[in-house]
Formats: sequence, structure tokens, C-alpha cells
Amino acid sequence: MSIEYNKGKLFCGRLNIETITRDIGTPLYLYDYQQIVDNLQSYINAFKEIDPLICCAYKANSNLSICKLLTLLGCGADVVSGGEIFRALKVGVLPEQIIFNGNAKTKEELEYAISNDIFMINVDCKDELYLINQIAHNFNKKIRISIRVNPHINPITHPYIATGLAKSKFGMDINAALDIYKEASMLENIIILGVHAHIGSQITSVGLLTENLKKLVNLTNDLAENDIKIKYINVGGGLGIKYHKEEIPQVEEIAKTFIPIIKKAGVKLILEPGRSIIGNAGIIVTKVLHTKETSKKKFIVVDAAMNDLVRPAIYGSYHRVIPLSYKGEDIEEVDIVGGICESGDFIAKKRNMPRLFKGDYLAVLDTGAYGFSMSSNYNSRRRLPEILVKDEEYYIIRHRENYEDLIAKEEILDDEVLQSL
Ligand code: LLP
Repeated sequence: MSIEYNKGKLFCGRLNIETITRDIGTPLYLYDYQQIVDNLQSYINAFKEIDPLICCAYKANSNLSICKLLTLLGCGADVVSGGEIFRALKVGVLPEQIIFNGNAKTKEELEYAISNDIFMINVDCKDELYLINQIAHNFNKKIRISIRVNPHINPITHPYIATGLAKSKFGMDINAALDIYKEASMLENIIILGVHAHIGSQITSVGLLTENLKKLVNLTNDLAENDIKIKYINVGGGLGIKYHKEEIPQVEEIAKTFIPIIKKAGVKLILEPGRSIIGNAGIIVTKVLHTKETSKKKFIVVDAAMNDLVRPAIYGSYHRVIPLSYKGEDIEEVDIVGGICESGDFIAKKRNMPRLFKGDYLAVLDTGAYGFSMSSNYNSRRRLPEILVKDEEYYIIRHRENYEDLIAKEEILDDEVLQSL
């Protein structure tokens, strides 16, 4: 992210971030337009020779303006719910660039996908395969599918985001895949188009990503021997970003390994990156409400909390935190915590920070992916505004929720009704 101190003030591009805090208040999410473009462009350039279909994972960030930006740059959408299909269509993603993933698609969601003629459904289990065939029959359509297989690869990441282990709930066992494909090939309303496996997220090894690809190529070859022609190999997403000390491979390195394999296999590649497109393009800006010292620790209490960024609480993830105004080198160890009524509510633990005071502003870095999209209204806190920055301008792409938004879908039953229950 082009986020740098300039005369002691933190800038995003040419914009002093403090300006936004004055106009909009905190906490807020901020995204760097140029970083998003550059991240996507690095995929497009690196893979140019084979021109893959890049479907960005909406689960990482599904803000409409960001999705629209990705659409204008030529991206399709990897979606996992009716809501994400709705978002993709809303920002003008062509149906032929939408891929529907997920292990618990409902009949209603499948009907929505099928009636909109999306490109492909990645089928997670046999029941779903037959359900799709049935719906397709009712719609008098033929539906393009891949089958998500489970390749038994340990992606060496947090266990909650490892998805291709034998014990994972996703996809069908790769060793049983041939039989399932044969079964699928008998179904009248199914068109087999591809094979798919996504082994996990925040992966830092080209070797593991390549192992996945190779297993899918082998499966494609086995299928060809059985007269099942595969046109697309979808390797999912998964490339990590540098949150702390991780060594992250360049996209070019992955492309260099993938391209010859894909060319030899004679198929089209589908990529579903999420984190690596938007993760390092976003920050949270938050204000120090209090500082507080106990006999054990010093706490920096900020106005963002685990409902705004749940990753530290769920995965123990590390996000760098830096002040908006340079504070010098008088360092002390602190926990940076939010205002949710749980001890799991922290942004950073045991962190060496310059001495901070009430009213200071902090930036929580690398929160563009799985940040806002995983946020909630827990403790009836309003979800944050989202701001897009380009050069010295900023644009509000989501407004801060108000109290009415919090209760918009609720009903207050009448006294008499409540008393008579
Ligand atoms: N495709 C499929 C089928 C996926 O399940 C995922 C992510 C992606 C693509 C995108 O993966 P990425 O390129 O972003 O690694 N909430 C967690 C991450 C969960 C990822 C779930 N699947 C976190 O905050 O780390």
C-alpha cells in the first residue's frame, strides 16, 4: 500500500489520512485504489500468456465500488451465496464470469444462479449434483459445472482456513472423483466443464499451490481417458500476503510454474484470488479512547473492536498497527483492545508501540481482506464507513451505519401481544 509518513504524518497516496478522520470521524475502513489496481494487474501481467479467467473472491471484500472497480478491470466473481451473486450482477459482472462456490448452497440460491445463467457452479457433493440436475430440468436448461475435489494437501496455514485436508468439509475425495464425474456425465441437464480444488488461504508456498494444480491435471488426464473432456482447471485462491514476517512468493513466480503445466494440459486456468488482491490495500483507522495501566499490563483502548476486525480474535492473526502521526522511538509493550465485552476482543497483543495518548490515531494495516466483510453489529455497534482513496481525493463507498440501520429489520411486538404470550 502506498502508505508512508511524510513530515511525520501518515499519507495514503497524496492524502494525509488525518484529514479523513476530521471529516468522517473514526473508526473507518480505508482502501488504496492504486494498490488494488496494481495487485490485480500483477496477476493479469504475470499470467498474460495463458489469459486465465480471474474471478475475485467476493468473500474477501464485497463492497460494491470495489467489486465494480475489479469488474471494470476485467475480473469475474467467485461467489458463495445468493447475496454475493446479487452483488456481482449489481456491479455489472457478466453472468459468464460468475462462478458459484460453497458447500451449502440452498435450492433457492441455486435457482437464482441458474435463472441468471451464471458461468459455472462448483459442485461440492453428490446431493448437490442431483439437486442442480433437477432444478436445471425444471428450468429446461443445461448447467455448466465443475466438481470441487478434495486433494488431501496440507496448505500449512491456520487450521480454520485449511480446506483441502482429508478431514476438511469441502469437496469430494479426489480418489473418488472419477466415479463421480462418470455419474455426472450421465445426467441429462449437466454439462461437465471443469475440475476445481481450493486448498486453503494465506498460503506462502508455491510448491503447495503447484501440487494442487498437478493433482487437478492428473485428474483431468484420468477423465480424458474416460471420455470426459475437461476445459477448465480452477485452482481456487489462497496466495498469502505479508502481515508480519511471512515470506510471500511473487505472483510472477507462481505464474512461471503454472503456465507450462497449463499449456501442456491444454485447458483454461481459473484463479479465484481474494486476499492477495485486496488484503494489503486496506487499513482501519481508529482513535485511542483511553490508555490504562494495570499491575500486569498497559492497555490502549481504541474505538475499533473485534466486531470491526474479527481476525485477531478468531485466528490470532497479526496486523501491524502504526500511529497516524509519527511518535518517536520511546517504545513500550501494550495490548491494543476494543470496547466489546469480551477478553477475546483485541486488535494486537504484546505489541511494542511508541508511547500513545488519548486522542491519538492509529492505522491497523492489511485489513482490506476479510476485514469489513467479516464485521458485525455485535454489542449493537454500527458498522464502519468505507473510504476509497485515489491520489489526494477520497470517496465514501459505504456510509457509517446509524442507530436506525441497526434496528431496521426488527419488529417490536405490541405490549398486549407480549403479555398474552
Ligand atoms: N476460492 C474459494 C473456493 C475459497 O473458499 C476462498 C477462500 C477463495 C477462493 C479465496 O481465497 P484467498 O485468495 O482469499 O486466500 N476469513 C479467513 C479467510 C477465509 C478464506 C475462505 N476461502 C481469514 O480472515 O483469513
